[in-house]
Amino acid sequence: MSEHENEYTDDFVGALEMVWGDGFMSPGGEEELALFLEGVDLAGKDVLDVGCGVGGCDVVLARDYGARHVLGIDIEQPLIDRAIERAAKQGLSDQLTFQLVEPGPFPLADESFDVVFSKDAMIHIEDKHALFKEVFRVLKPGGLFVASDWMRRDEEKPGPIAQHWIDTVGLSFGMHSPPFYIDALETAGFVDTATTDRNAFATAAMKADYELMTGEGREELIRRTGDAADHYIDVWHAGWKAAECGELRPGHLRGVKPAG
Ligand SMILES: C[S@@+](CC[C@H](N)C(=O)[O-])C[C@H]1O[C@@H](n2cnc3c(N)ncnc32)[C@H](O)[C@@H]1O
Repeated sequence: MSEHENEYTDDFVGALEMVWGDGFMSPGGEEELALFLEGVDLAGKDVLDVGCGVGGCDVVLARDYGARHVLGIDIEQPLIDRAIERAAKQGLSDQLTFQLVEPGPFPLADESFDVVFSKDAMIHIEDKHALFKEVFRVLKPGGLFVASDWMRRDEEKPGPIAQHWIDTVGLSFGMHSPPFYIDALETAGFVDTATTDRNAFATAAMKADYELMTGEGREELIRRTGDAADHYIDVWHAGWKAAECGELRPGHLRGVKPAG
């Protein structure tokens, strides 16, 4: 039995999907995916999605990018159940498989994926060096790691604005800076590593979300989250301010496993 307590409650997922689109628990939806997948050919490829959530990204990877198969892994059963249901509704159950995992090493064979994808999930995994060792292990030689994640500006103690966001959102985070991720990727053996900063996009997105939640979207937010609506408004306000002050630095990540 997992020690992990589910953090993405139904009302939280309701708030996330309200602002970021059906199936998406992270900002930017299909447009953001297109940006961080620019130049990536997924046609006919076997893809692992680490932290798949309710599976919106996986539908896009199979339906629009032609992935042969996507395995989505996550640590929360209710999210996996919703991802399975989504795949079935889209007629994609043969191409999309979802598996509940424990935090830690992947229960997956060496060299079994062409691409490891992740969107805004690795923030939850504290030990980036162990994580990227695992990502490297399950990739085939020549395979690609492509992700986006919520990073932080540096390895200093968070300032009060960033700490307020971390406290308000109340999730388990193991945040690190882009250079820290690069070190973890390269220590694992990745080459051609790169990060792209998305702070400006995230700041604008959370500001717009906050304005929607406190304006014309307020009723819909209450419909989705009930008494917790004001809490989610606080979460988005705190996130906007943490990004605006420059400490919260969402960004894109890449690395290649040498062909051998
Ligand atoms: C912000 S959500 C993003 C979900 C999805 N990638 C998306 O963009 O819609 C983060 C996800 O990471 C999952 N997660 C947290 N820790 C994890 C771990 N150790 N292994 C796999 N998934 C994890 C959470 O349960 C959650 O579904």
